[in-house]
Amino acid sequence: MIKMTKTSSIALAGAMALALTSAVPAMAAGDGPEIAKKKWSFSGPGGHFDKNQLQRGFQVYKEVCSTCHGIKRIAFRNLVQPGGPEFPEDGVRSLAATYKVDELDGNGKVVQRPARLSDRFPSPYKNEAEARSIHNGANPPDLSLIAKARGVDYTGPIWYHPVSMLKDVVTGYQEGGADYIYALMTGYKDNAPAYRRDATGKLTEVAETSIQRGDKTILRCVSVEKVAGKPDNCTAMADGMNYNMAFPGHQIGMAKPISDGQVKYTDGTAATVSNYSADMAAFASWAADPTHDQRKSLGWQVMLYLLVTSILLYVAKKRLWREVH
Ligand code: HEC
Repeated sequence: MIKMTKTSSIALAGAMALALTSAVPAMAAGDGPEIAKKKWSFSGPGGHFDKNQLQRGFQVYKEVCSTCHGIKRIAFRNLVQPGGPEFPEDGVRSLAATYKVDELDGNGKVVQRPARLSDRFPSPYKNEAEARSIHNGANPPDLSLIAKARGVDYTGPIWYHPVSMLKDVVTGYQEGGADYIYALMTGYKDNAPAYRRDATGKLTEVAETSIQRGDKTILRCVSVEKVAGKPDNCTAMADGMNYNMAFPGHQIGMAKPISDGQVKYTDGTAATVSNYSADMAAFASWAADPTHDQRKSLGWQVMLYLLVTSILLYVAKKRLWREVH
């Protein structure tokens, strides 16, 4: 029998761990680009929406995004409710009146009337076909549930993935949609990354600052593929598309929607793309989950109730069984 000393077993465990980590190279688990996790006011089990941020987010949506994107699941009255932007009711009533909604009249004919608080936001398009015909074939998705429909792909080494998932469970991470929207809105670049081909056909990325004006050897690629035994393959951006760091595949039909100074904030918040993006992402998160704040506070009340009940049950059990034990 082989007897193992303490040091040799530690050395063996170390060698095994090393073999395991080096056998699995730093592989991306998801296909999506790396997206940073931001700190939001509504992060974690105790987080709540910031009413002022939601008001600014709605302003960005209304002044910029609403030209192309609907929020059909949101009713005007939601903008007044607690846990949301909490705009004054009179203001929202007059805002609603500026929209037209369809209604059937007494003869069954479709007529239009000004919207009321109980109506939902009408869509900017009659149907998907109209949307696509306006946007070069692309369909701007309705933004009511976009924060739930999108998320952040894990991109770290594969062996760390379970740890990362556990961390998300413990911290109650649910803000993947907001993180994605923020990354998307701030992720535009004027051009796809620049590459130069060497004599062997290999493509190497070139820093923007080192490119001479009119340099004909520069290739712009949204993605580069290595093909065994052949020169690297460069996928160029399609016509009418825009380069975006966060969008899967990096080319998106939506042009950069917003620039610094475009929306005038009245509460002193700096008018930057970064702030617009965070505010809009928060607004989209609320739109996808308007009862988020109530649910979280109810959760805490339930926990407190269960704690008190447990203490009472324990005391009752002790008293009841006192004679027996
Ligand atoms: C001029 C029209 C236009 C405006 C304005 C616009 N978008 Fe878009 N948006 C589009 C189109 C078109 C697409 C679909 C792009 C595609 O599928 O390639 C899109 C897609 C999106 C998507 C989905 C991306 C994905 O992962 O599929 C999000 C999120 C989005 N837009 C957010 C916004 C926000 C936020 C604003 C306002 C700041 C905005 N958009 C303003 C046209 C617009």
